[in-house]
Amino acid sequence: SPVSIFGVPTDVGAAHRGASMGPEALRVANLAEAIARRGVDVRDLGDVAGPRNPLTGPVDGYRHLDEVVAWNQAVFDMSSQELVAGRMPIMLGGDHCLAIGSIAAVAAHARAQGKKLRVLWLDAHADFNTSEITPSGNIHGMPVACLCGLGPDVLVNLGAPGPALKADEIRQIGIRSVDRGEKRLVKEHGLDIYDMRYIDEIGMRRVMEEALEGVDADTHLHVSFDVDMLDPSIAPGTGTRVPGGVNYREAQLMMEMIADTGCMASLDLVEVNPALDKRNATARLAVQLVESLFGKSTLMRD
Ligand code: ARG
Ligand code: MN
Ligand code: MN
Ligand code: MN
Repeated sequence: SPVSIFGVPTDVGAAHRGASMGPEALRVANLAEAIARRGVDVRDLGDVAGPRNPLTGPVDGYRHLDEVVAWNQAVFDMSSQELVAGRMPIMLGGDHCLAIGSIAAVAAHARAQGKKLRVLWLDAHADFNTSEITPSGNIHGMPVACLCGLGPDVLVNLGAPGPALKADEIRQIGIRSVDRGEKRLVKEHGLDIYDMRYIDEIGMRRVMEEALEGVDADTHLHVSFDVDMLDPSIAPGTGTRVPGGVNYREAQLMMEMIADTGCMASLDLVEVNPALDKRNATARLAVQLVESLFGKSTLMRD
């Protein structure tokens, strides 16, 4: 289907500034051109607008909650609009709190169409914190919990009342940093997590086969790609780097296997932080991986 790209230049969900420059970095790395080269009709809608970063401390366990809500409402509206128009939204973050609005829109759309939903959460982090257990108050560490109904009403009920996701609709891959309280919560809710040890032990091919099991023509497949899933040696431009991440070939294989399903219908590309990057390497790598998501393969060159 045709693609609509839009930027969400904010870092209100993170502790470090700079992810707000992510959309422009991805454009400078020729994201739209790379997708167009795959023969896809692609439009860049520009950026959505929202409040500036107030740089204040957490209140009741949440930092910048009002601002996070405002940005996510804008993301929800833009994503919904493009989905209804039959286009695939690609949301350029910005920090990962924006997946709340993005996936709320996707979930509402999938339900309205009677489709099954599968979310692939590609990340070093589980992002399953709540206001009670967060070590930071940063809401980019909470989107999965919010989407599953654990969070403030304003975020849980964004778009449609009630949790957007059931825990069994999500698969998390690349995970290697989970906070103490978060670990317990993740177990309690039975999240399906393919952590780095599991990837090391059984290999990325089998991990992806398992994570994609059951995905069929009736499935809306959403990919939420936090670039800190990647090893910091190849993706230094992100605010919460964790050593021991997914390497270049593993990442390519993931994207190729997602492309093979033919089911990807929406995408988040988040946490690119140009202020921490080396000559835009992280955005450029992200663009290469998106090319693979759109079916570019090594042998069948165009
Ligand atoms: N677990 C940490 C926290 O809650 C880090 C979260 C990082 N999340 C991200 N989307 N990069 O503060
Ligand atoms: Mn994340
Ligand atoms: Mn992360
Ligand atoms: Mn909801």
